[in-house]
This record gives sequence, structure tokens and C-alpha cells, in this order.
Amino acid sequence: MTKINAAITSVGHYLPKNILTNKDLEKIVDTSNKWILERTGISERRIMDKRIINKTLPLNESKGSSFMGSEAAKECLERRGISAKEIDLIIFCTVTPDMMFPATACLVQNNIGADKAWGYDLSAGCSGFLYGLMAGTQFIKSGAHKKVLVIGADMMSSILNYEDRNTCILFGDGAGCVLLEPTEEEEGVLDFTCQVDGGGGEFLKMEAGGSRNPTSHKTVDEQMHYVYQDGRTVFKHAVSRMAEVSVKILEQNNLEGKDVDLFIPHQANIRIIDATAKRMGIDSSKVLINIQKYGNTTAATLPLGMYDAVNDGRLTKGSNLILTTFGTGFTWGSCYIKWNY
Ligand code: UT7
Repeated sequence: MTKINAAITSVGHYLPKNILTNKDLEKIVDTSNKWILERTGISERRIMDKRIINKTLPLNESKGSSFMGSEAAKECLERRGISAKEIDLIIFCTVTPDMMFPATACLVQNNIGADKAWGYDLSAGCSGFLYGLMAGTQFIKSGAHKKVLVIGADMMSSILNYEDRNTCILFGDGAGCVLLEPTEEEEGVLDFTCQVDGGGGEFLKMEAGGSRNPTSHKTVDEQMHYVYQDGRTVFKHAVSRMAEVSVKILEQNNLEGKDVDLFIPHQANIRIIDATAKRMGIDSSKVLINIQKYGNTTAATLPLGMYDAVNDGRLTKGSNLILTTFGTGFTWGSCYIKWNY
């Protein structure tokens, strides 16, 4: 039987036009451009809702993650030159769905007119896109589907407390999308390793709004609908886990740092990125960094990284690409892709 691999054949993205700079944040919380740049590497991030910068603006209905994901999907299809009607499956990776239900994938299916597609949401925080990419890959490899859209989209501004300097400076809004299709060549998504440590759940979470703490006056008064993070603990785990799993994926594929053409790590903190690349023996020139302009966009960081790398020519046919991520759960993983276009 012929072996089928899953190749990424197109990319798309969406970034809101509104820019929230470190200087803007200095006016909102007790922070400084210097602290944010030195401790995280972030200069600015995008936000859907301008009222975060200017509270006097009128309240408009938010467009949500489905809007960003749909725009990214439309661009992805346009670049490939195919209709949404050809899509079999949509995997929507997010921790900021438009609603608890229906799934955001269903809203996107309707928005883009993907008449014959089914779909579902996948929640793994910052690891969401990598997990989704691995799920989509299996549907292609098994022969079940020929065209799968994997979208990573998060509107983190909708769950941030802009009075909490520990978290509000870190995140931005955005979406990225890839199209997976079958190939008989030895290219595309070739290997992966994913892990979970549920003991980490207490260190990065949003406690209310689910079945354990349904929305009530109490949950709102106690600010339980915002992101909570114990930054130091998450930082320590992110550094060690991302490095471990990245080294493991190289070993599993008999690769060394010098064989990697591009390394796209999850963009949570420049210090985590540098430490991981160092442990892998990868030269800094081969590490994609866009945290300075987008911040941490949760499930969108990896596809936005691929989008930037395709556009600036850093990803071309035959490039050895490693993606690595770490997020709430804890969840983490890494994959090896031989880029195919
Ligand atoms: O994407 C999912 C995974 N997430 C991550 O990987 C994020 C991991 N964590 C981090 O990136 C870092 O821990 C942070 C950037 C969140 C924080 O950096 P840190 O170097 O770990 O700082 P810290 O939390 O240890 O705080 C150091 C000091 C504290 O002051 P004291 O107690 O030393 O007086 C904080 O209160 O910095 C203070 N601080 C700030 N100061 C100015 C915390 N946030 C800010 C701020 N501006 N925004």
C-alpha cells in the first residue's frame, strides 16, 4: 500500500488592525516598556476591541474568534486557489471560542461556505494548534480526508484583566490557518511527540464560566473570568519541557541542530525561546521570532510563524522545520515537518 503523508499546502492569517503598544499599557497598568521588553521581548500586540485603549468608545458587538479564524481560512483557500466547498474537515483550535456552544468550527463552516465539511473545536491552550495539526494529519494519513483546515485563533483580550500587569501585557489577538492535503512524497508532517501533565492545571487557568463555576455575580465579583497565571512556575516548566521535547524530536529523526532550517517555537517569552534553541544547538538565525509584534497569541503563534516564514522566504520546498509548543494543562509537544512548497 502506498504511504500517504500530510502536507501543508497553504497558509492564511488574520491580525486585528488595532495595535496595543507597551507605551499604551504604561497608561493602563503599573508597568514600563523597559520591563516588558526585557522580561518578555514584546513591543506591541494586536487587539480586536479598541476600547481597551480608549474606554470612551461606544460598545460594539465583538466579532470574536470565529471572525478572525474565518478570515484566516479565506486567505488560506485563496492562496491555494480552491473553494471552501472542497474542504472535508475544519479543526478549530482555541481557548476563546465565540460561545460555550455551538463549536466555533461550526460558525466558521457557515461563514466560509464549507458546505460539505464537518468540524470541531480543540482546546489545548497554546499547544492547541500543534495538537490540531497532529489530529488533522491523522485524517489525511488514514485516507479518510483529502482537505483539512486547521485553524489556531484566540482573542485573548476577551479574557484578560487589563488591571493585572502579570497577564495583560503578555497576550495579543490573532489567527492562523493551514490547509493539509495528501502527498505520496516523504514530506509534510513526518513525526511528532505530544505530552500532557494535568498536575500543571492550577498554574494557568480561567476558573469560571464552565460547569464547575457557572457564571454568577460571585464569579464576576471575584474576577474568575480572567486568565490567571503563576508566571514563574509556568516559565520554569516551559523552559524545561520545550527543550526536552525539541531535543527528543531531533533525536527521533536523526537530526542535529545544524540540520534544522527553521525552528518555530511557541511565542510566550523571548527568554524561553532563546533557552530552548540553545539546548537544541540551533543558531539564532534559524529561529523564528515574531513575539515583538504580536505578543503571545496562544493557539495562533505557530501558524502565524509559518505564515511569516512563507512570506519572507524562510520556508521553501525541502526546508526542515521544527515546531514546538507549551501551554496550559500543562500541554506540550513538538513536530518535524519537511516543507513541501
Ligand atoms: O503561553 C503559555 C505559557 N506561558 C508562558 O510560557 C509564560 C511563562 N512566564 C513568563 O513568561 C514570565 O514568568 C513572566 C513574563 C509572566 C513574568 O516574568 P518573571 O521574570 O517571571 O517575573 P516575576 O513574575 O517573577 O516578577 C518579577 C517582578 C515582581 O516584582 P517583585 O515581587 O520582584 O517586587 C513582579 O511584581 O516583576 C514584577 N512584575 C512587573 N513589573 C512591571 C510583574 N509583571 C510586571 C509588569 N511590569 N508587567
